[in-house]
Amino acid sequence: MSTASTDLIDAFNAAGQGQVFKWYDQLKPEEQQALLEQAAQIDLSEVAELNDTLVQGGGGHGVDLSDLKPAPYIPLPDKGGDAKSWAGAIATGEEALRAGRVAAFTVAGGQGTRLGFDGPKGTFPVTPVRKATLFQVFAEKILAARQRYGAPIPWFIMTSTINHEPTQAFFEKHKFFGLGEDTVMFFRQGLMPAVDYKGKILLADKGEIAMTPDGHGGSLRALVRSGATKRMAESGIDTISYFQVDNPLVHAVDPAFIGFHLQAKSDMSSKMLPKAYPKEKLGHFCEQRGRHVVIEYSDMPDTLTDRRRPDGQLAFLAGSIAIHVLDRAFVERMGGGGTGASLPFHRADKKIATINATGNPVKPQEPNGVKFEMFVFDALPFAENPVIIETARQDEFSPVKNAEGVDSPQSSRDDQIRQWARWLKAAGVKLSCDKTGLPEFTLEVTPLFADSQEAFVEKWNALEKKPTVTDGLLLK
Ligand code: UD1
Repeated sequence: MSTASTDLIDAFNAAGQGQVFKWYDQLKPEEQQALLEQAAQIDLSEVAELNDTLVQGGGGHGVDLSDLKPAPYIPLPDKGGDAKSWAGAIATGEEALRAGRVAAFTVAGGQGTRLGFDGPKGTFPVTPVRKATLFQVFAEKILAARQRYGAPIPWFIMTSTINHEPTQAFFEKHKFFGLGEDTVMFFRQGLMPAVDYKGKILLADKGEIAMTPDGHGGSLRALVRSGATKRMAESGIDTISYFQVDNPLVHAVDPAFIGFHLQAKSDMSSKMLPKAYPKEKLGHFCEQRGRHVVIEYSDMPDTLTDRRRPDGQLAFLAGSIAIHVLDRAFVERMGGGGTGASLPFHRADKKIATINATGNPVKPQEPNGVKFEMFVFDALPFAENPVIIETARQDEFSPVKNAEGVDSPQSSRDDQIRQWARWLKAAGVKLSCDKTGLPEFTLEVTPLFADSQEAFVEKWNALEKKPTVTDGLLLK
């Protein structure tokens, strides 16, 4: 064994993590090599610190809930916002888009366990008629924006080791949905070892450590480490439009949002919508000693989620839908190590596939260990001039998270159809819908036909021969 390998194993023993090499002597040389390479990626002092603070520390999440106030936000024009300033923001955003300053960025490294879909979540068929996948919907929104602004708008996609290859293969199979291979860049996020409740690093197999993605907060360092920010800088991009892989209604690039962000010289901006009910599973935008923070739904005590203003409105109304605009230089600072502040880790108790004392695989039915994750919104308190703007739920948020019920394929499909039904009505088409705005039949409008109500009405009115509005109508 080389000295480097012995040193590494010694370091694990000294850190009380010697179990990682329990089966080492039984492994084939190439398996030993692979295990050593995995082990070399682990920062043992970081794991020890996380064990102290998050695992042994009684499972506390280490979230500071003191001095929280609701964060201010810019309301939509029809909710009391100033129409003139929205128009000004749109103009600023459109100018930045036309100047090629904007890139789209999707975090798609999650494991999608709640949905129970086997494969990268972006490959989930989400639309009602075509059954187009989430990735296709985003690709078409980006294509539509490229056409409108005559700008390159490259797309950066963060994957994790678990889904990187299938994600790339999916894009190759679909010829990058017409975006051009060189305009889509994939990169992997970092990994962290999972530990049991005693803080011992878990093995996935005799020669494999159980590693899990380091959370979407890992995107800041992955953007830098992968060379993505460098590539952006070289092509004059200073503004990053960030969104999650699970929401087909997202405006992949939104001129109003980009405009407000740029006008304020903000490092990191966010979109909010009013929570539908106190316990809705959204992060809460709060202000804490002059800085913006997001307090995750699981960390927010009932006394705060349920608090009401004198007018009856929820006090902590602003829900985070995980849509941000990031300044590239801010990402470089936060993700580049060195002078940048680092994001805290959070604890997530999970079912982690592992092996038992005799080396046989165990598939736990209950959480058996802890995963460490960073959250991108923890960068907010470090951001100068952060801006939060309101968006309308019906136009921008209907994620696919669960197999059934709330935020499921069915609810998202219905919300997509409701949106297109509204667009048809706005264009003067008579449609019979139920109380929730859902028509009796399915229909679909692709982002390449129109990606907003305004664009739809214009396009529809310009059609010489209008299609019959009937079940399965597909406008593409
Ligand atoms: C998330 C937010 C929540 C917000 C809600 C809106 C967190 C902790 N909470 O909840 O505040 O209100 O979305 O929909 O994020 N991902 C990675 N790498 C990872 C983990 C996740 O890329 O290591 C990506 C996923 O692919 C997905 C997104 O991050 O695109 C969201 O992750 P998920 O864990 O599903 O967050 P939620 O609990 O739904």
